[in-house]
Amino acid sequence: MKHYYYKSGDLWAEDVRLTDILSRVGTPCYVYSEAAIIKQWQAFDSALAHHPHKICYAVKANSNLAVLNTLAQLGSGFDIVSGGELARVIAAKGKPNQVVFSGVGKQALEIIQALKYGIFCFNIESAAELQLINQLAEHHNLLAPIAFRINPDVDPKSHPYISTGLKENKFGIDFAQAIPLYQDAKKLKHIEVKGITFHIGSQLTSLSPFIDATKRILTLIEQLKSVGINLQYLDVGGGLGIRYQDETPPSPKAYIDALLALCIPPELTLILEPGRSIVGDAGILITQVLLLKQAGNKQFCIVDCAMNDLLRPTLYQAWQNIIPLKEQALKTLQYDVVGPVCESGDFLGLSRRLAIEPGDYLAITEAGAYGFVMSSNYNSRPRAPEVMIKGEKFKLIRERETIQELFAKEYLFND
Ligand code: LLP
Repeated sequence: MKHYYYKSGDLWAEDVRLTDILSRVGTPCYVYSEAAIIKQWQAFDSALAHHPHKICYAVKANSNLAVLNTLAQLGSGFDIVSGGELARVIAAKGKPNQVVFSGVGKQALEIIQALKYGIFCFNIESAAELQLINQLAEHHNLLAPIAFRINPDVDPKSHPYISTGLKENKFGIDFAQAIPLYQDAKKLKHIEVKGITFHIGSQLTSLSPFIDATKRILTLIEQLKSVGINLQYLDVGGGLGIRYQDETPPSPKAYIDALLALCIPPELTLILEPGRSIVGDAGILITQVLLLKQAGNKQFCIVDCAMNDLLRPTLYQAWQNIIPLKEQALKTLQYDVVGPVCESGDFLGLSRRLAIEPGDYLAITEAGAYGFVMSSNYNSRPRAPEVMIKGEKFKLIRERETIQELFAKEYLFND
């Protein structure tokens, strides 16, 4: 269910007509619906009502403080991958003791910061990292709660750049190394072995890879039990996909039901790290048509946002819908929707049928996840502002970057 809709020819989100935002913030701009975020988080939470659980939203998907604060208020935990994300969670009033720290290359300073804040768990990805965390915890006289991220060697059937659960990926620990590593960890004085985790990839649209991976990990949990290692929780990562074009991903409820059908023991708390499925649908990127141009037998629609604002189309050949903010009785033509950046890879959507003229506004939909967070200043373009809608109100939750900010931390050599 999409949260945006047309009323009398205008595009609305919740109770706000989107053009009303633009006179205040301009374009390009990201707009999020708080209700859409809440609805998705609650879909996971209510599907798990009868099993002990923790939903740790993957901060990397959208780390705006207002988004994190909305989730913190619901009681969400957080999955972080850097000290920067931990600082954001705290600034957004999230609880450090509800934080899991993922990532294949955690730095000592980040580990110390997380230890001092008393995070819920470190998801460890290598033997070397186990030793480092133990040493740092010893130095600070603390106990580090840990889980190992096991690589279940399952193909998520997603884009290769966002597939992580195959043997040849850099992520996680080989199945064969898991038991000896848990046994080593048990012996370390400053390590508390708590759980097990996996994450096989992102934008998964079918259940079978999740089920295969969970089954394999449940078997491992039994094997660990037989050698005297009893875990308190199973963290199944994130990865549930959303509908961008014609995919038919399972709903959060169908996904949870399928996991619970594997008979996860009630003493094993289930942890989830969803990112995209919480915020993806909730966001759109609004842009203005600068001009229309014909080259060869192609029509180009040149807009004021670009690959620096939304990288997904060019980086992953991702398809995101592009729709007008005002429905118009104009001739429909097929356009490549492209930005002003000096690269042919700078496109937002190819071969799109649109009825538009210069000055019109377009919305690129499903832009709430991995949108703003992956934006850059390439071509010295200031990053776009972010707006959150709540009912009939909207608020600027991040200002547009200024030109001065672009080089405020740069210096001439000969000054
Ligand atoms: N947990 C871990 C350990 C992860 O690496 C990720 C995502 C998640 C959870 C959240 O996954 P999600 O539920 O959002 O699928 N930039 C790419 C997606 C990269 C995902 C990286 N890891 C994109 O735009 O498609």
